[in-house]
Amino acid sequence: MAELMQGLKRSCYCTEVNEGMVGNEVTLMGWVSRKREFGHFSFILLRDRTGIVQAVVDRDSCSEDILKKESEIRGEYVIAVTGKVQARTPENINPNMKTGKIEISVEGLKILSESDTPPFQIEDNVNVSTELRLKYRYLDLRRPSVASNIMLRHRICQIVRDFLDKEGFIEIETPMLTKSTPEGARDYLVPSRVHPGSFYALPQSPQLFKQLLMVSGFDKYFQIVKCFRDEDLRADRQPEFTQIDMELSFIEQDDVIDVNERLIKRIFKEIKGIDIDTPFLRMPYKEAMERFGSDKPDIRFGMELKDITDIVAGSEFGVFQNAIDGGGSVRGINAETCASFPRKKIDSLVDVAKTYGAKGLAWIVCNEDESYKTTISKFFGEDTIKAIAERFGAKAGDLILLCADKNSVVFDALGALRLEIAKRLELLDSEDYRFLWVTEFPLLEYSEEEQRYVAKHHPFTSPMDEDLGIIDTEPENVRAKAYDMVLNGCEVGGGSIRIHSGEIQQKMFSLLGFSKEDAQERFGFLLDAFKFGPPPHGGLAFGLDRLVMLLTGAESIRDVIAFPKVKDASCLLTDAPNVVEKKQLEELGIEVTASDEEVN
Ligand code: AMO
Ligand code: AMP
Repeated sequence: MAELMQGLKRSCYCTEVNEGMVGNEVTLMGWVSRKREFGHFSFILLRDRTGIVQAVVDRDSCSEDILKKESEIRGEYVIAVTGKVQARTPENINPNMKTGKIEISVEGLKILSESDTPPFQIEDNVNVSTELRLKYRYLDLRRPSVASNIMLRHRICQIVRDFLDKEGFIEIETPMLTKSTPEGARDYLVPSRVHPGSFYALPQSPQLFKQLLMVSGFDKYFQIVKCFRDEDLRADRQPEFTQIDMELSFIEQDDVIDVNERLIKRIFKEIKGIDIDTPFLRMPYKEAMERFGSDKPDIRFGMELKDITDIVAGSEFGVFQNAIDGGGSVRGINAETCASFPRKKIDSLVDVAKTYGAKGLAWIVCNEDESYKTTISKFFGEDTIKAIAERFGAKAGDLILLCADKNSVVFDALGALRLEIAKRLELLDSEDYRFLWVTEFPLLEYSEEEQRYVAKHHPFTSPMDEDLGIIDTEPENVRAKAYDMVLNGCEVGGGSIRIHSGEIQQKMFSLLGFSKEDAQERFGFLLDAFKFGPPPHGGLAFGLDRLVMLLTGAESIRDVIAFPKVKDASCLLTDAPNVVEKKQLEELGIEVTASDEEVN
């Protein structure tokens, strides 16, 4: 290889060649995207990580050597091309290519490496299955759109580092082999050879370590860090993902919000050239749920939820009355202009609601002649239906969808329907960036599964001072100093002000049902540290992958991660996870009692 490259130096990347360089000699290296012959010309599309440029071989006038090499070249061969930059004639200009006005007239050609025929055409917009793309991810990453996502991710990280450095933050690494962190997902465990029967947990976040760093006095910390959570995968979740994690001392909520709004502003300005308005809207959790049925509302469109419990209470309609009697409510949304949806389409909306736990949906179609067609006409007179329609500001042509259940189901179902209808009506503009902070989250959440309160954020999140008085009497109504940054219906980041008083921390543990011993066993090292002067502190973590996904317009976070995992958390490229040798297990003192085939 040394000989092959001797004296050969790349002068620039493919897409750096421009009209200002006409007449200059350049040397480019990359992969053959396509070769096509036209008369005595041979056109080679050469690709590197920046994109594609056209090289032209004039077979009538080139040397024997070039002619021979040109004839040997196949798709994805690696070549070095030397030649003069020339302007394309006007009829040959390709406006869809960054380098479409120029081409390289080949004067030297070297084959650096050969390639088998790839399993799919390496181009954007080719129809390839996700499985095949991920099995050959290294080839998929050659596709310009995928490569540009990865490079944009790099740019964002550089902006984040530069911004936080200038703000006085110190980047500090925290351990990967550690103890379980309290983020609420399952841990990935790593067995210890030296301590058979004992396990490390991979961090779900650096939460406890960053709080320890505050005790140490590094009052502004950040880290771009891998986190691991064994949870069900979705389009915006991966089992290992990256956080931009930060923690600050001597601050209050507004300070964390301020620095992060400025960070986001800078990223959007540099990456998209967009001026994001600050300060962002702030919306308490309760309002977000009541208006949008979600704690991460997409506020690019209206279709807000309305409560009609007061209008329909006291009726003979069991479905509504039972929900109300059980402490629930009847709420709905107005799908404007959707009255013309055929029955089948409405049924499919009912199915969407059912996947979120709703038992059904009632609907009201607002006819052109100001009459109504509705599934609940048996139980409610025209006046009541009219009052409901008025609450939604419904006009002729609108479709009102109603759901009765306990509040959590009503919010989930209507929140999801709202998004589904917006998608179907194409109301969502991916270039319209609507940020907000959702604040005042509940401190606790009741877990039916565990039959106890669990922390909504994590056990170190501080209750709001205003609610300390009701912490014993109405713990479920206590709000937390917790905040999420939401962009277009996606939670891009979240954080909180932490508890730094031993007394409140103890109270929190007792609400969570941890005895003093339990708490000491799980988080003793942090509680001990907090005996030695913990400063008031708080922080936040962004999901880097989600942020990059939204900035690139990618549909899945897979598209912005170099080597992502698929739905069942496996890696199609390496085949991980995999069975290991018996000897390895013996060393670890581990016996396997179930196999993948048996369980799945
Ligand atoms: P939280 O659990 O909210 O907070 O996580 C912070 C952000 O990380 C992103 N995120 C994910 N991204 C991809 N795949 C996942 N599986 C995944 N899970 C979370 C989200 C989320 O907003 N330690 C706290 C932060 C703090 O309090 O400072 C924490 O981890 O965008
Ligand atoms: P049923 O009594 O089940 O025939 O339901 C009568 C009407 O109420 C139908 O239009 C159902 O779709 C609707 N419905 C059923 N369950 C609910 C619910 N939880 N919320 C709102 N409407 C419902």
